[in-house]
Amino acid sequence: MEVVRIVGGRPLAGAVTVAGAKNASLPMLAATLLTAEPCVLHNVPDLSDVRFMIEILRHHGATVEKLEPGSWRITAEEIQPHTPYDLVRKMRASICLLGALVGRLREAEIAMPGGCVIGPRPIDLHLKGLARLGCTVTHQNGYISVDARNASGTYIFMGGRHGSTVTGTANLLMATVLTPGVTRLDSAACEPEIVDLCRMLVAMGARIEGIGSPVLTITGVEKLGGCTHTVLPDRIEAGTYLLAGAITEGEVTVHGAITEQLGAFLDKLDEVGVEVDVLNPAVIRVRGNLAKCRPVDIITLPHPGFATDLQAQFSALLTLIPGISLITERIYPNRFMHVPELQRMGADIAIEGPTAIVKGGKGLTGAPVMASDLRASAALILAGLAAQGETWVQRIYHLDRGYAQFDKQLAALGADIARLKAEEMPKDYCEE
Ligand code: EPU
Repeated sequence: MEVVRIVGGRPLAGAVTVAGAKNASLPMLAATLLTAEPCVLHNVPDLSDVRFMIEILRHHGATVEKLEPGSWRITAEEIQPHTPYDLVRKMRASICLLGALVGRLREAEIAMPGGCVIGPRPIDLHLKGLARLGCTVTHQNGYISVDARNASGTYIFMGGRHGSTVTGTANLLMATVLTPGVTRLDSAACEPEIVDLCRMLVAMGARIEGIGSPVLTITGVEKLGGCTHTVLPDRIEAGTYLLAGAITEGEVTVHGAITEQLGAFLDKLDEVGVEVDVLNPAVIRVRGNLAKCRPVDIITLPHPGFATDLQAQFSALLTLIPGISLITERIYPNRFMHVPELQRMGADIAIEGPTAIVKGGKGLTGAPVMASDLRASAALILAGLAAQGETWVQRIYHLDRGYAQFDKQLAALGADIARLKAEEMPKDYCEE
């Protein structure tokens, strides 16, 4: 196993270019199963989650060829409908195959995903939507079976307790583009990754109106064809690098992000007192000076609100800002696994229900910490960059699920960061 060692205290300086979005690439890879014709995807990030999704496509019978780094051709001439637990267990996002299999084969059998460390991850809204379409949905022995032979277009309300569902919307889109009749998906997710998935589906011949709005109208077509599509940039990766600049009191320029997709996040950075310059629609520069920063209140919400996937990383910054900041999680009320680890580094944070109360400004000191999930790993590395002394982050395989070469990119910006073997850690820091 590998670990990341960071020696904190160096202001980062320089530029970084963001990769394609993980959370768009995964459903798009699934969407290639909707046609027997080849689909080419460009700007696919080199992440363990993506490599795993490719393995799953092959399991279903698709031929997957790497054309060049970041570009893949997928041809799904004949596919089979069964996704075993072994695959779903390893990557929860493999549930986005459900809609593609239903769309293409009119049947699917997929293992029910469990929850994960950021909280319960139900799929009731996905299944309710399929049932509304007229699919027969059965749940037995840990598997969901869907028979869509009698499905036809209808009105479906997709909202739940926490607002819209991103993967649920992706699944219903993929299920309905080949379903006869007109389907109206109400309270659909408006995340940029969903918008980009719609664009890909339209390029394949799908008929979708209302793209980018919470009401999507899908007119089923008989067949989809192949396409060539470039995945949009990763807004969460962009936000994470901007925070790395801010937390180290450095100057970091991020290239390739779509600024308008980061509205709520950039607004909070500005409110906190970080100097944010949008140099052009795809280039953002931050300059951090913690002495000029002030506490803020953050509430995570569906897009265009503040993204839950940037909450942990922003929390790391708030631990260094004098005063009391409040962070309320409206998407995953338990997504605070990074908090006990930040506390090990000296952060003063209390959790009250879905809210973290951060008493910032007391400084952080390096410590051995444990990453619990993808965004928590990034948050702990950011904290390590700003802490005094050495921080060792363990279980960094979580990081590799969603950030390509994160440690190398940070090193190129001047961070003192290295990926080492677990054996190289001081003995008393080791997990076992
Ligand atoms: N929900 C339900 N019922 C459902 C589906 C969702 O109650 O049937 C609830 C969830 O429990 C949660 C909320 O609705 O409280 C939103 O969940 P959503 O379905 O939107 O999340 P997701 O599609 O499973 C995606 C991203 C997550 C990101 C969330 C929210 C992918 C592969 N994952 O998850 O990304 O946090 O949307 O934006 O797209 C990450 O990248 O670190 C990550 C966790």
